[in-house]
Formats: sequence, structure tokens, C-alpha cells
Amino acid sequence: MKHMPRAHPAPRDRPVGRQYPRPVHFMTMHLYDPQAADPNLFSDRTVAVLGYGNQGHAHALNLRDSGVCVVIGQRPAGRGYDRAVQEGFDPMTVPHAVERADLVILTLPDESAADVFDREIAPVMRAGGALGFVHGFNIRYGYIKPPDGVDCIMVAPKGPGTLLRSLYVDGRGLPALVAVERDATGRALATALAWAGGIGAARAAMVGTTFAAETEADLFGEQVVLCGGVTALMQAAFDTLVDAGYDAELAYLECVHELKQVVDLVYERGLQGMWERISNTAEFGGRTRGARIITDAARQSMRRILDDVRSGAFAREWITEARNGAPALTRDRSHDAARPIERAGQSVRRLMPWLPGMNVAEPNGTAAGCQGMRRGD
Ligand SMILES: NC(=O)c1ccc[n+]([C@@H]2O[C@H](COP(=O)([O-])OP(=O)(O)OC[C@H]3O[C@@H](n4cnc5c(N)ncnc54)[C@H](OP(=O)(O)O)[C@@H]3O)[C@@H](O)[C@H]2O)c1
Ligand SMILES: [Mg+2]
Repeated sequence: MKHMPRAHPAPRDRPVGRQYPRPVHFMTMHLYDPQAADPNLFSDRTVAVLGYGNQGHAHALNLRDSGVCVVIGQRPAGRGYDRAVQEGFDPMTVPHAVERADLVILTLPDESAADVFDREIAPVMRAGGALGFVHGFNIRYGYIKPPDGVDCIMVAPKGPGTLLRSLYVDGRGLPALVAVERDATGRALATALAWAGGIGAARAAMVGTTFAAETEADLFGEQVVLCGGVTALMQAAFDTLVDAGYDAELAYLECVHELKQVVDLVYERGLQGMWERISNTAEFGGRTRGARIITDAARQSMRRILDDVRSGAFAREWITEARNGAPALTRDRSHDAARPIERAGQSVRRLMPWLPGMNVAEPNGTAAGCQGMRRGD
């Protein structure tokens, strides 16, 4: 992991009480010993998972399968409620779940968690308990203030809930970032590590960090690379080929579809391992042309985006947007289906009817409705 600016205290700078398991050195960050995740810590305690969405279902199921008593706090009549019932839980209202729990894990959307917290959690949260987050947004930007006498901890798995669950079921785990914002009881870190162990993270890595570092790096990564940068890059490259007269499906195959194989190689083997496994032509072109795309101007934009994350400007913009009913987000989403890149993607994915969501299989794997591509042409 790259060296991080020390704007916020790293875990080793915190006073470490004798009851804390010692982290071992891991490059510039700290990796906690898997043995420090004590599965017995929850033997007489109850964990409430609030929200049963992407993250919530995985935390709840993994903890339950690890022998932890888990209750679900979930608003009724929604997708999450039905899914929790199907998966063997008996979901209750948020205040009821909080009242029963020693550890309350919030897996609500970042933009609505503070309202739910003020209305339904804070009034019934008991001193001596722990409040757990899977992302530091609401603590870092001050939208949630944990009540006095309550531990405030985070276990942020580095991946979506679906992967957190499937790796656990396979006997593996996702690495997770672990942080303590407030240790009111003297056992905050032990609780966080037991939680991380219960979701399978100890099988991979429990990496020590702070709420601030996790939040800032997470937002930056998703805006600049994972969700913002990569999609804008694919879109611009697709537009460039289509504007130059190439078929939309060809542009999609080259600039979107094939990203998977490169990302999979990088995920499994790093950048160098990826370079070694692509053609020399692709490597030479990539090494000589990449910096023409990510120019100094692009790097300056990255720094400005990071400034907005660190100053809280992005958080204010997003929470204001959400509180106004998310008009800009809704408007942008409403154009998705009509975008040429989406229509080209539909055509390409129809050629692979085994993909999730493609239930258009025809005999011999032929696919109906391809607009630009037909078999046998
Ligand atoms: N998704 C990921 O891959 C991922 C990865 C890392 C971290 N995270 C973090 O995980 C947290 C949860 O994100 P998510 O993606 O798991 O969310 P999600 O899939 O949208 O699930 C949110 C859950 O909260 C419930 N909920 C929504 N609004 C509510 C309200 N006003 N009152 C009560 N319950 C409400 C939803 O119920 P309904 O079913 O009724 O809508 C649903 O069960 C966030 O902090 C996010 O940053 C997510
Ligand atoms: Mg995120």
C-alpha cells in the first residue's frame, strides 16, 4: 500500500492500552494478527445489523454463520425486509433491534443514516454498547455524533457485500479496514476485530486505519478511479471510436468489455503481472500512450477532487443533493437507457446469454434482438 500523508493519526499513534492486541507492521499500515479476532467475544452479546442491503446482508449472514446472535433492524415493506425474511431472519424495527444489541452495525445508505440515527437509534442506544460503521462518511463529516459512553468503531470490507458473502462461503475472506474512533469501554478494538473475524476478514487481512483516512481514500478512489474515472474513460473512448465511424458494438468490445480481463489480471497479479501477460504490442502502446491520457492537467484535477473530499465540500454537496430528493442524480440516471454505449452493451451481452441478467438464451446460444450484430452475417 502506498505511503499515506499523515494528516490524521495512524493507529500506532493512538495510545494503545494493554488490553489491545498488537498490530504487526504492514508496509506503512498495520495488519492485525488474525488471532486477535476473538470469536468468543460475542458469545453472550447480540449484534444488530441495521439495513439489509448490499453490505447488511453479508455482515448479518457471515456473523450468523460464525455463531453470533444477530438481529436485523429493517424498515418494513421494502426489498431488504423481504430478503431478510427469506434468509431466515425475523426483522424488527430499528429501535427494537438497537435496544437488544451490544453492537449496532449501521449498513444504511450514507445519505439517510444520520436521519435514522437521530430519530430511531440515538434515543435508545445504551451506554457501554458499540456503534459500528462499514464506511466512515457520517463520522468523518460530523453528521452522526455517537452518544456518550458508546464505542465508535469501523470494519470496512474492501469490496461489495456480494463478494464479502461469497468469499466467506468459500472459506475465504475480503480484507477489511479496521478503525476505532472512540474507545469508551476499553474494548472497542477487541469488538471491532471480533466483528472483522466474524465476517471472514481475518482469513484475508484486518488492516488498521482511521475513520478519516478510510473515508477520504474511499471517496477519492471511487470518484477518480473506480466509479468516476473509469466510466468517463470508457465513455470518452467509446465516443471517439463511434464518432470516427466505427461500429458501436466494436467500440464497446474494445473499450468496455475487454476491461474485465485487464482488471482481473491486475487484481490477481498486479500491474507488472498484467504487463507480462498481454501482448508486447499492447504493452508498448499502453506504456507509451497512457501518460498522454492522464496528463498533468488530469493529475491536477485529481488533486482538486481530493481537496473537495478533505475539505468536506463534496460531502456537503452530496448531502444537500440527497436532502433535495437527488434531482441531479435522478436526471442523469434517466438518460442511461437511451445512451448508445448502453445499447451497444446490451447487444454485446446478448452474445453471452449465460451472463447474470441475460435470460434471452436461444437455441445454440444465438441471441435475439442484436441491433448492430447478427450471427451469420
Ligand atoms: N454497496 C457496496 O458495495 C458497499 C461497499 C463498501 C461500503 N459500503 C457502505 O455500506 C453502507 C450501506 O450501503 P449499501 O450499498 O449496502 O446500501 P443498500 O444496498 O442501498 O442497502 C441499504 C439498506 O438500508 C435500508 N434503508 C434505506 N433507507 C432507509 C431508511 N431511510 N430507513 C431505514 N432503512 C433504510 C434499505 O432498506 P430497503 O430495502 O427497504 O430500501 C436497505 O436494506 C454505506 O455506508 C456504504 O458506503 C457499500
Ligand atoms: Mg465507497
